[in-house]
Amino acid sequence: MQLCVALDLPTKEENISLAKSISKYDVWIKVGFRSYIRDGRELLEEIKTINPDFKIFLDLKLYDIPNTMADAAEEIAHMEVDMFNVHASAGKKAMKTVMERLESFEKRPLVLAVTALTSFDYHTFKEIYGADIEEKAKAFALQSYQAGLDGVVCSVFESRMIKHETAADFLTLTPGIRPFGEPGDDQRRVADIDTAKRELVDFIVVGRPIYKAKEPAKVVEKILEAL
Ligand code: C5P
Repeated sequence: MQLCVALDLPTKEENISLAKSISKYDVWIKVGFRSYIRDGRELLEEIKTINPDFKIFLDLKLYDIPNTMADAAEEIAHMEVDMFNVHASAGKKAMKTVMERLESFEKRPLVLAVTALTSFDYHTFKEIYGADIEEKAKAFALQSYQAGLDGVVCSVFESRMIKHETAADFLTLTPGIRPFGEPGDDQRRVADIDTAKRELVDFIVVGRPIYKAKEPAKVVEKILEAL
C-alpha cells in the first residue's frame, strides 16, 4: 500500500514547503483542484525538482463528453504526471475513448475512475444517483475495468468487493483516510490505516491529517511505519 499526500494548501509556498519537508519519504503527491487551478503545470515541475522520485497524482476528476475528456487526457499525458482520474459516471464510452487516445504514448499515466465521492453518505448518494452506494460503486468499477482503466477511486469499504468483482490487480485508491482515527471533517465514509490494509487498498490519500498537523513530516513517518 502506498501513501498519497494531498497538497491542498492555500498558497504555493505552503505546498512547496510541505513537499520539501517530506522529500526523503517514498510517497505520492496528490495535486487537486485548488493547487492546480492556482499554480498549474509549474507546480508539477517544481514538485519533481524537489524530489524526482516523487510520483504525482493529478486529481482533476475529468467529466465531459468523450472527445473533450480524451483531449484533456492527451494533454495530461504530455505533462509530468504519473496518475490522473476521471469520473466513471461520464460513462464507459468516454472512458474507452480516453484509453484509446492514450494508446500512442510509450509511457502513459495510470488512469483511475471515481466511483462515489467519500464525502457522500448513503442518503445523499441515493438522492443523486437513485441507487445504493455499494451497488453503484460496483457497477461503475466494472465499467471502468471493461473500459481498460487501471483502477478506481472508492471508499475503503468498497475496495475488497471491487477487487473481487474485477481483478486483484485492479487498483483501488481511497480518500477519506483518517490514519489513526482523527476527525472526519467533511468526509463521511472514513477509515483508518488498519482497515485500509485489511480491505486490500493499493493507495491511501491523506490530506488534512497531515498538512494540518504541527509536524507533518512526523505524521508521514508514522503512517509509513504503519503501512
Ligand atoms: O483532507 P482529506 O484527507 O479529507 O483530503 C482528501 C483529498 O482527497 C482531497 O484532496 C479530496 O479532494 C480528495 N478526494 C476525495 N474523495 C474522492 C476523490 C478525491 O476526498 N472521491
